[in-house]
Amino acid sequence: MLLCNNVQGYTLYGAVIMKIVVSKKVPFNIENALNDYTVDYNDSETSLSYDELKTRCVDADALVCMLSDRIDKDFIDACGNLKVIANYAVGYNNIDFEYASEKGVCVCNTPDVLTESTAEIGFGLLMAAGRRIGEAERFTREGKFHGWGAGMMLGHDLYGKTLGVFGMGRIGAAVARMALGFNMNIVYHNRSRNLVAENLTGAKYVEFEEFLTDSDFIVVTAPLTDQTKHRFTKKEFHEMKSTAVFVNIGRGPIVKEADLADALENKEIFAAGLDVYEDEPIINEKLFNLENVVLLPHIGSADVDTRAAMGQMCADSVVQVLKHGEKPATCVF
Ligand code: GLV
Ligand code: GLV
Repeated sequence: MLLCNNVQGYTLYGAVIMKIVVSKKVPFNIENALNDYTVDYNDSETSLSYDELKTRCVDADALVCMLSDRIDKDFIDACGNLKVIANYAVGYNNIDFEYASEKGVCVCNTPDVLTESTAEIGFGLLMAAGRRIGEAERFTREGKFHGWGAGMMLGHDLYGKTLGVFGMGRIGAAVARMALGFNMNIVYHNRSRNLVAENLTGAKYVEFEEFLTDSDFIVVTAPLTDQTKHRFTKKEFHEMKSTAVFVNIGRGPIVKEADLADALENKEIFAAGLDVYEDEPIINEKLFNLENVVLLPHIGSADVDTRAAMGQMCADSVVQVLKHGEKPATCVF
């Protein structure tokens, strides 16, 4: 494969110090990990605009970017020197990776290191939404707890129920494995069978229709693709059980957010837990006024160890391409 074919030239004429742009502050000493290079680091919690980032990347050899940065055809064309784009995330729908690949730019992500961390947030949302933890916490904090009540804050427990996993990848399989501790019965729907996950968790592959009608709890862990976009709309929520708990830790646009808000408002399903949104960071206004939804600010992989490991992985991928002219295992195509 001719990937990164222009890297060798740089290595041979070793006097050129390559430039790496890091689009936003990461909780890891990335400058240290890239100390053989000139690092243009946006050491700030504020994202650069599309144009600002593009301008900084015009003469860059590598880019470490965030899932909130849109890297499209125009960007890639304008930054013809780029050899590698390392996305600080496992999902990479923010990058036109097919076009990048055509142009010989290696697109990398951060798989594996965030699997358990993200699955934990998924499982936390299943529990929080099912057992009304967010609502009950607000209730208590507002001074409304005036005594124990047998019928107060009744939710739905996970134990022995059916968990439906939409997107049985690494994260979906990790959520399924956690669900075994709750004696859950696991079904899943995916573009293909995942036999490893089936063997590990006893998960059963089902058609989408059956997935919707049989699941007590649903967790979306799929990536955003043309096939998964708006896979959950009014119609799908209508088909779910009225006691269903729906959790999305994949990508927002897999769900038509306004339809979910309506389904929650009309009690067509019991509750939802969301870590991702259709038009981040904008959230459908209606959701803020509903008690039966738990809203998180996209923190699936947000723990100290994981975020450091993601930084190391991005740095390693960049070095592997720039210094060694090799295709990293994290390259997405
Ligand atoms: C987070 O959403 C990720 O894709 O890493
Ligand atoms: C990726 O999308 C995963 O499930 O790890």
